[in-house]
Amino acid sequence: MRILTIVGARPQIIKAAAFSREIKNNFPEIEEIIVHTGQHYDQNMSEVFFKELGIPPPQINLKVGSSSHGDQTAIMIQKIEEILVDKKPIAVVVYGDTNSTLATAIAASKIHIPIVHIEAGLRSFNKKMPEEVNRIVCDHVSTLLFSPTKSGYSNLINEGFKKELNDKASINSPNIYHCGDLMYDNSLYFSTISDKKSRILTDLDIKNKTYILATVHRNDNTDSSLKLNELFHTFLEIIKTHQIKIILPIHPRTTKMMDQLLEPNLKKKVKKTESLKIIPPVGFLDMIALEKNAQLIITDSGGVQKESYFFKKPCIILRPQTEWVEIVATKSAIITDTDSVKILKATANFLNHPELQFPPIFGDANAASFIVKEMISQFS
Ligand code: UD1
Ligand code: UDP
Repeated sequence: MRILTIVGARPQIIKAAAFSREIKNNFPEIEEIIVHTGQHYDQNMSEVFFKELGIPPPQINLKVGSSSHGDQTAIMIQKIEEILVDKKPIAVVVYGDTNSTLATAIAASKIHIPIVHIEAGLRSFNKKMPEEVNRIVCDHVSTLLFSPTKSGYSNLINEGFKKELNDKASINSPNIYHCGDLMYDNSLYFSTISDKKSRILTDLDIKNKTYILATVHRNDNTDSSLKLNELFHTFLEIIKTHQIKIILPIHPRTTKMMDQLLEPNLKKKVKKTESLKIIPPVGFLDMIALEKNAQLIITDSGGVQKESYFFKKPCIILRPQTEWVEIVATKSAIITDTDSVKILKATANFLNHPELQFPPIFGDANAASFIVKEMISQFS
């Protein structure tokens, strides 16, 4: 049974590790061909993950690189179609909501190759987010939709998907499942390895664990001069008020936009402030170590929001809304967007060691196994 997995951006490569590991360990009857669109291409945004997470190297790399949404997606559609026609997989697996997901959804659905969408049903209800458009389109041409959360599953029902499972699902009679999050499986698995291998706390001299971890890459934040400046002003304010370090592994998009948009004075201050440690993107094992030992996480990343929760850390979400509504409902995370007043207030609250609860909302760490078994029963 041959399936094709398409990845392109950093979080998709990391997610693919859970799925590929499950196939390699337990389902030798499946031949998985990994195709990398090349949406992310820097060594520390792509190759590092294949190496350290033991993912089979992609058999094909489309090397599409960066460009406008239309350009990038169009080239991917064309190239993915060629590969699907050539390799004739029984199904194609995609993750999340990137342009690589969208391109695969369009290419595969038109030539009648069933799509398996992992992380289906998530909605921010903000169609100005490119990811929202990508995930809606992908969900509505998929055959098997695996939702990590109850709210994701409910969103699909609200959009007209049926609860009843078909013996043989199809694009016109898709099956939807609530199966937990395979990143939960994955983060726990690599957490043990990270404990043994990561040296990042020593390297950054933060073994005393008095630091905040931050990430910023959402286009809504990086491409707005107002928001980006407000955010970095706020980071400096947090450092001054709480005498704490902020560790910021920086996405290449943010580096580029900081250079273009930060006010010259602020840029100088950011450079001069040693407690704001801006470092290149790190591997997943180091990222886990940074997450597990931080006092607080401030992020606009979808994946990092969830990992904060997996590792029982409070999280400030630098977005106007989130798809991971269950996390916010527990009060272990708060939505602040880039509003300085809200971020400062939330930081003070969270650093004050409130009693936080982290009830299980991401399943039982068996999502990858559930997904592969269901694929076998549907497609063989
Ligand atoms: C993409 C996804 C986003 C996801 C993020 C994960 C879309 C529309 N967006 O956003 O959902 O959260 O990946 O990180 O698919 N760049 C490099 N080197 C790289 C990759 C990117 O320098 O290896 C720079 C380029 O200047 C590029 C910019 O980052 O133009 C943005 O990259 P792109 O893949 O278009 O979007 P992301 O912001 O990474
Ligand atoms: N990540 C990483 N190194 C970094 C930053 C993030 O390994 O320097 C991991 C993070 O732990 C999570 C994933 O990348 O698993 C999230 O990716 P990103 O924030 O780029 O995208 P999103 O999840 O928002 O789509």
